[in-house]
Amino acid sequence: MPGSRPSVSTRAVGLAAMIFMPILAPALATSFTGAIVRGIAASAPTAGPSKATGRLPALGWNTWNAYHCNISESQIVAAANQFVSLGLKDAGYEYVNIDDCWAVETRNATTGQIDPDPTKFPNGISGVADQIHALGLKIGIYSDAGTNTCAEYPGSLGHEEVDAATFAGWGIDYLKYDNCNVPSNWTDAPARPIQFDLCIWGQAEVWTWGARVGHSWRMAFDSSPTWSYIISIITTNVNHLNSIGFYSHNDMDMMEIGNGNLTTEEQRTHFAAWVFLKSPILLGTDMSNLSTDQLAIIKNAELLAFHQDGIFGGPAAPFNATANAPVTSPPEYYSGLSSNGMHVFIINTGNSTATKTFSFANIPGLSGGNYTVHDMWTGQDVPGTFSGQYSVSVAAHDTAAYLITQKP
Ligand SMILES: *[C@@H]1O[C@H](CO)[C@@H](O)[C@H](O)[C@H]1NC(C)=O
Ligand SMILES: *[C@@H]1O[C@H](CO)[C@@H](O)[C@H](O)[C@H]1NC(C)=O
Ligand SMILES: *[C@@H]1O[C@H](CO)[C@@H](O)[C@H](O)[C@H]1NC(C)=O
Ligand SMILES: *[C@@H]1O[C@H](CO)[C@@H](O)[C@H](O)[C@H]1NC(C)=O
Ligand SMILES: *[C@@H]1O[C@H](CO)[C@@H](O)[C@H](O)[C@H]1NC(C)=O
Ligand SMILES: *[C@@H]1O[C@H](CO)[C@@H](O)[C@H](O)[C@H]1NC(C)=O
Ligand SMILES: *[C@@H]1O[C@H](CO)[C@@H](O)[C@H](O)[C@H]1NC(C)=O
Ligand SMILES: *[C@@H]1O[C@H](CO)[C@@H](O)[C@H](O)[C@H]1NC(C)=O
Repeated sequence: MPGSRPSVSTRAVGLAAMIFMPILAPALATSFTGAIVRGIAASAPTAGPSKATGRLPALGWNTWNAYHCNISESQIVAAANQFVSLGLKDAGYEYVNIDDCWAVETRNATTGQIDPDPTKFPNGISGVADQIHALGLKIGIYSDAGTNTCAEYPGSLGHEEVDAATFAGWGIDYLKYDNCNVPSNWTDAPARPIQFDLCIWGQAEVWTWGARVGHSWRMAFDSSPTWSYIISIITTNVNHLNSIGFYSHNDMDMMEIGNGNLTTEEQRTHFAAWVFLKSPILLGTDMSNLSTDQLAIIKNAELLAFHQDGIFGGPAAPFNATANAPVTSPPEYYSGLSSNGMHVFIINTGNSTATKTFSFANIPGLSGGNYTVHDMWTGQDVPGTFSGQYSVSVAAHDTAAYLITQKP
């Protein structure tokens, strides 16, 4: 309803047993005026979500991109087992997340709860949770801030307390909270600490208040396995890098590696950009089909270490690579710190191989001097010592990733 102004209300959340911080069900208004956005921001709680989880961006897998509604206990338990057998658990992947379509179509008339579909989940969601927890992993579930989910299963609006308690009772560790079928007025939604991802599609300038409500928030509509999606979400996100830090993550949506026709170079950029912008990384494919190259990308230990760094919570940010560097959208050159030192990431946004050059002195925090350049993809130092400028040939749509260390 363009032009209409949702009333913004929050209901006091008095139940000690409440699982979540009170959250706002986002209105499905097609346009938000500044006043409404300020109203939403003003109504968000000030205490922030649980700090018992969500400090670092999530690493895991989600059913949607691979299976949409065609989900079952067996696929999800298989994915959890693949985390172990493919070495992904050892690499740090942790969350095995169920998306939409896990429920029956009406709430239980007796309990008021959402019941799992008994055909898809013969042991219930708690039965899946037990199997996932037994592997030392965590489980995520999906609900929606409106009356119904996007696939028209029951939503949590008006049932936040019972749903929060139900999810906690099942042992849920992560909640993706979607934005379909939300009426144009506002209410609360939903402390087992549950990592809370607001799937609000970038509406209402969520990056300005999301950290007071949850641990991560979607920046745009759903991903697709295309280069144009990767470029557009990076372009969106680079305008909001100040929102990113510990417990506070701009969500660029689930991974498409393994889906569609992305080139190997595009898959490297997909992974590297989600890493250096500290987005949640939730794999979204049938992992039994991942190639050796794809596994090497998603298990790259140095990139994952940047993503999961315990000291530096911020993302890499664009810098002007040389005095006369061309301006591109999105930017091609990024720098940022990890516990290991200074990193540089270079995306070739062009359609052909190109030489990319940066001056060491242009990297914020560095100056002139002699440097070692370490390639995070190969795990090897580039032979030699470098000073002044560094140049490298980057394939079309690929991303170079370096650790830059000043020589004493
Ligand atoms: C749903 O998944 C099952 C296997 O889990 C598969 O056999 C079936 O073909 C799928 N159905 C559709 C419509 O994709
Ligand atoms: C409603 O919940 C109760 C208690 O868990 C259960 O026994 C009953 O089978 C549920 N009803 C339906 C229709 O599933
Ligand atoms: C939202 O609007 C609906 C329909 O007008 C109404 O029934 C409901 O009570 C309203 N909810 C709140 C929280 O204002
Ligand atoms: C992949 O490419 C083929 C051939 O160009 C095309 O038919 C198909 O739709 C593409 N798949 C996706 C998911 O884009
Ligand atoms: C996975 O690979 C199998 C054969 O190896 C193939 O039948 C199936 O279609 C593939 N699935 C996807 C989603 O690509
Ligand atoms: C890069 O240089 C342009 C002017 O050429 C300036 O507007 C911009 O702020 C600079 N960007 C950074 C990240 O320093
Ligand atoms: C790359 O190719 C695409 C598709 O052909 C085109 O739309 C785009 O403008 C090209 N980008 C550049 C930087 O040339
Ligand atoms: C860089 O290395 C060269 C050769 O070892 C040395 O002569 C020079 O003083 C070094 N420069 C700096 C700034 O350390």
